[in-house]
Amino acid sequence: MTDVLDKPSFPGEVDRSGMMDHILGFPEQVEEAIEIGRDAQLPPWKGLKGVAILGMGGSAIGGDLVRGNLSASFKPPIGVVRDYTLPFWVERDFLVIASSYSGNTEETLSSYQEALFRGTKIIIITTGGRLGELASKDGFPWIRIPSGFPPRAALAYSFFPILLCLQRFFGLGDLQLNGLADHLRSLREEYRPQIPTQGNLAKVVAGKIAGRLPIIYSAPGPFEAVGIRWRGQLAENAKTLSFTSLFPELNHNEIVGWELGGGVKEKAISIFLQDSGYHPRIIFRMELTAGMMEKDGVEVLRLESSGKSLLERVFSLIHLGDWVSWYLALLEGVDPTPVERIDWLKGELAKL
Ligand code: F6R
Repeated sequence: MTDVLDKPSFPGEVDRSGMMDHILGFPEQVEEAIEIGRDAQLPPWKGLKGVAILGMGGSAIGGDLVRGNLSASFKPPIGVVRDYTLPFWVERDFLVIASSYSGNTEETLSSYQEALFRGTKIIIITTGGRLGELASKDGFPWIRIPSGFPPRAALAYSFFPILLCLQRFFGLGDLQLNGLADHLRSLREEYRPQIPTQGNLAKVVAGKIAGRLPIIYSAPGPFEAVGIRWRGQLAENAKTLSFTSLFPELNHNEIVGWELGGGVKEKAISIFLQDSGYHPRIIFRMELTAGMMEKDGVEVLRLESSGKSLLERVFSLIHLGDWVSWYLALLEGVDPTPVERIDWLKGELAKL
């Protein structure tokens, strides 16, 4: 079935809106986004006590990834707010980062207004839209990111500016950004369309997922957001439903549900996003659980991160997931870029 992915003309026939170029460009986007974050003009704010990152969908995942990557080293409270309202814990001496690619997402605009009301410090990351106008009107720093991407394909432009803002205000030490783009370039060489299925993990995984229900497993901390990214990319690019869950919690409930499997067991495929940095007991639990599922007849794909630093390992699985979602879209015959249901909903909501 995946042989079709090796046909040179194939991508263009289905990927009519050019998602491939965005995924191919990811290593260079990472480099540019790091520059944007480093060059950002920010006031010398002092004494910030915590961080809230506002955003939805493709503009929220950068915040999730920052939070996850800092989970073992960052002391102040930090949370991602995907809502119209700000949680009570966001106080006046917090830094709020409002991230919306279009600048027009109503939940983000609404929680931004609450942050304004509470008197927090605010940084805006957007291409423009209403949020861009508010940055100028309300006098907050605006980190302007390049336009022309579907928001989810602009992940680098939300993640790195947020990370570098936190570096500036909270002093995060060495972020180990140096080898990251090169590592991604070497992975791109493995996953790009010219590499035949036989030696191309992204094509193989897409082929296994096609027509099935992927259940994606990872662990709390940096890789939780990687699972969320996979789920989002499979949904938006490949128009495919999937679910995510976390070790070790699932060992205390969900594994029992597999006994009957609710009619989905035959269709399901388990994807284990694995990392050498997981707690050793989690690694052991994953092996035991994989064995249990395989005994039930469920196929388990074990996908291991690669790279030296934590960021390299995290982004190795993100880049793989982006390619998998793209190949899956091609196999399913759907153009990866349009997200008609999201657009329709936004249109309906805008009428009220
Ligand atoms: C579309 C996408 C969506 C948007 C979300 C919020 O590519 O990924 O999840 O990111 O609807 O819109 P923005 O990012 O403009 O705030």
